[in-house]
Amino acid sequence: MNLRLLTAGESHGPAMTAILEGMPAGLPLDAAVIDHELARRQRGLGSGARMQIERDSVKILSGVLAGQTTGAPIALLVENDDHVNWKGKPVAAMSAPRPGHADLAGALKYGFNDLRPALERASARETTMRVAAGAICRHFLAQFGILVGGFVRAIGGESIQGDVQDYPACLSAPEASELRCPDAAAAERMRACMQRAIEEKDTLGGVVEIFALNLPVGLGSYVQGDRRLGARLAGALASVPSVKGVEIGDGFAAAGLRGSQAQDAICLDSGRLRRAGNHAGGVEGGISNGQPLVLRAALKPIASTLAPQPTVDLAAGVETHTNYVRSDSCHVPRAVPVLEAVTAFVLADALLEKLGGDTLVELQVRFAALRKAQLADLSLDDSDKVWWA
Ligand SMILES: Cc1cc2nc3c(=O)[nH]c(=O)nc-3n(C[C@H](O)[C@H](O)[C@H](O)COP(=O)(O)O)c2cc1C
Repeated sequence: MNLRLLTAGESHGPAMTAILEGMPAGLPLDAAVIDHELARRQRGLGSGARMQIERDSVKILSGVLAGQTTGAPIALLVENDDHVNWKGKPVAAMSAPRPGHADLAGALKYGFNDLRPALERASARETTMRVAAGAICRHFLAQFGILVGGFVRAIGGESIQGDVQDYPACLSAPEASELRCPDAAAAERMRACMQRAIEEKDTLGGVVEIFALNLPVGLGSYVQGDRRLGARLAGALASVPSVKGVEIGDGFAAAGLRGSQAQDAICLDSGRLRRAGNHAGGVEGGISNGQPLVLRAALKPIASTLAPQPTVDLAAGVETHTNYVRSDSCHVPRAVPVLEAVTAFVLADALLEKLGGDTLVELQVRFAALRKAQLADLSLDDSDKVWWA
């Protein structure tokens, strides 16, 4: 592992913090790059009241001097504006765990009588810092022309039909929609579905698609399971709260196909190697294959519903119902930048592993050499050349 990330902070504590270690020196960086991504994480239809309170903005505490990374750990801080509303007030103990949250399992694991310590740290507020660190990673990847994007594919039962063909357009188009969905007709169906759920005091989940363009061949490896790029990406997506399923390329749909239908034929196009499709989603044998990376994450519906849910009051030892805690009604649009961020982290880590080096300039020289070598390897223009020799 070349990049390391630790986050700390409670949802209603004074601040969220992170340390990102392993970024090479010489990457131009200012807070605006990170704030742009933090603002994206706050937007999206279905957001709850907390997002109106917070104005997330990062302080870079270390690792950047004169507008450039130094190679030292980058410490980041985002204040919780909601903290002042809690400070000095007695925090009511919570003893009725909410199903679908860390409340019960966390309290049993750590021996808490009050559920609050578990929910304060398990809260998705933590994803603020993953987005902050991920913003640096995606900025790093962009220096090599590698671009990471994402969009909402489904909310509730409403989904974009078929494959998205124009990934470059999806780098910006979804941002124009409150639903982060590039398909206007599907977005309208999702909006109506969300409206119905809210009226019925309920919540929704959905599917987010993440992609990366211009990846070089050769990130990750098949030589050990934990080096497989797909495994690393799947783990990263599944680490985001509420993600309950991950697909790479055709994913679960591939399980229903025949072997003859599910592969991407290898062909020649004017003497150059070409793939006839992208069922694999850009990863074969645990290695990036130069095709667009395509991933999908399934997010369960928000567990905190306005309609009370059955639970047990652990202090009183009686069955009861949950108290509503202020919450998103659908977090799927807001989860897009979070899932992009964790993907960018894995890809930046894999690129650093591939290239080595301590400075951006050093890495860029190696990247240019890698690209040149790969273009030569994949070209069959020279009839004497046996490409596998
Ligand atoms: C961006 C984002 C925002 C979220 N907002 C909420 C929320 O407002 N209310 C809620 O109950 N869950 C929310 N969640 C999901 C919970 O954090 C998650 O379901 C809970 O911590 C339990 O973890 P698990 O679902 O992974 O088991 C959000 C998740 C993400 C990624």
